[in-house]
Amino acid sequence: MSTTVRTYQEIKIAIEFKNFTLGVVGLGYVGLPLVHEFVENNISVIGFDISEDKVSKLKKGISYIQDISNDQIKSCNATGKFTATTDFSELAHVDVVSICVPTPLRKTKDPDMSYIASAVNSISEYLQPGQLIILESTTYPGTTEELLQPIFEKKGFTIGENLYLAFSPERVDPGNASFSTKNTPKVVGGVTPNCTELACLTYNHAIDQTIPVSSPRTAELVKLYENTFRSVNIAMANEMALIANKLNIDVWEMINAAATKPFGFMPFYPGPGLGGHCIPIDPSYLSWKMKSLNYDARFIALAEQINTSMPNYVVKKIGIALNSIKKAINGSNILILGIAYKPNINDVRESPALDIIKQLTKFGANISYNDDFIPTVSVTKEITMSSINLSHLNYNDFDCVVIVTNHGYYDIEKIVSNSHLIVDTRNATKGISQETIFKI
Ligand SMILES: NC(=O)c1ccc[n+]([C@@H]2O[C@H](COP(=O)([O-])OP(=O)(O)OC[C@H]3O[C@@H](n4cnc5c(N)ncnc54)[C@H](O)[C@@H]3O)[C@@H](O)[C@H]2O)c1
Repeated sequence: MSTTVRTYQEIKIAIEFKNFTLGVVGLGYVGLPLVHEFVENNISVIGFDISEDKVSKLKKGISYIQDISNDQIKSCNATGKFTATTDFSELAHVDVVSICVPTPLRKTKDPDMSYIASAVNSISEYLQPGQLIILESTTYPGTTEELLQPIFEKKGFTIGENLYLAFSPERVDPGNASFSTKNTPKVVGGVTPNCTELACLTYNHAIDQTIPVSSPRTAELVKLYENTFRSVNIAMANEMALIANKLNIDVWEMINAAATKPFGFMPFYPGPGLGGHCIPIDPSYLSWKMKSLNYDARFIALAEQINTSMPNYVVKKIGIALNSIKKAINGSNILILGIAYKPNINDVRESPALDIIKQLTKFGANISYNDDFIPTVSVTKEITMSSINLSHLNYNDFDCVVIVTNHGYYDIEKIVSNSHLIVDTRNATKGISQETIFKI
């Protein structure tokens, strides 16, 4: 950090003229693409992580996330503008800090704030006057002002005067070919207007558009509303699948016809259940916060109930499909296609495939899976499985093939023509009508 940068005007000019160093704390799916965008735009970045393994990979030019290639890390390293470290004392040498650490749930479904707490403790230890701290981790409304601000104030700083603090949610959608960190607008809410302005100026260097809002808690709720919106609408599509099934209607045909309405309707599709680090988790941050205010977030609870029941429904469908050829789940050989939580990505966090495999195993099925994106997976502490290769595989060796995640590389026609039975949770077999295909 430049020791001359002290006043608001000085730090503002430093940021405007790219004369600053950004520290990114947490170099995962969110932090690493952010590092890349800023370094690409000629801004010095120090990346901080507690994982020695990740830091040493980055130093060697190796990426560990799908959206960033080894070449991109190598080119960041070659600029001389990027270093990765586990030494948090380097935080004293940055002007802007972006916090991108995990915010999972505890087993009790309460927010696990331990990663944010530990990152903030490290930052507060090396806090410098004039620094701008931006929290990007998804969290409940109030976190920035109720949790972070008092910690920094206890160190003798006044937010908006000699320290700046903002919240800006990360909205990146891993694997999305159209929208990346750069072209997804960034919502920014500072504790004071000064804080918002500095945060917007920072992101303007790397992100196409910033959307200032009046407070950190507004920005915190924006993120939770977006993901609750998805969770609720996916739940409605899932419930439509259950309803359509009882009415003997193809839910996919029905939704696609509804989607032709040019206004007032946005299609969502059913599936085997929610997965990933965001949609199954983020709404619980909001309902937890609302419980503390004696308010029951009913849509969130209902959506969670429906979405988490979908793996059971898929298992039931598999039972029905096997029953049609006079077989039981117990003793059947079942092939699961795709275990990542969505197509064409290598992320298995919270994937419904894991729940489906667990339940089928409990009922006595012999399970194999293929997912070229996920070579091995720990389903439980006791069960670790490896993906089988499709090139020499005979689909007929399995009693039932279950399409859980429709990766782009699956040859659907080959799968359909060679399998005894198919349970299709994603409408991958769209347009193919056969008695051996059971769709959800
Ligand atoms: N993955 C997504 O698609 C996505 C999208 C939008 C928002 N988010 C949110 O962004 C945040 C980060 O998610 P992610 O997917 O990048 O997580 P991640 O697990 O991929 O990465 C987090 C990184 O933080 C590191 N870390 C943990 N504690 C640390 C500490 N005290 N100091 C420094 N580093 C630490 C971990 O080692 C890891 O490398 C979460 O709040 C998440 O909800 C994620």
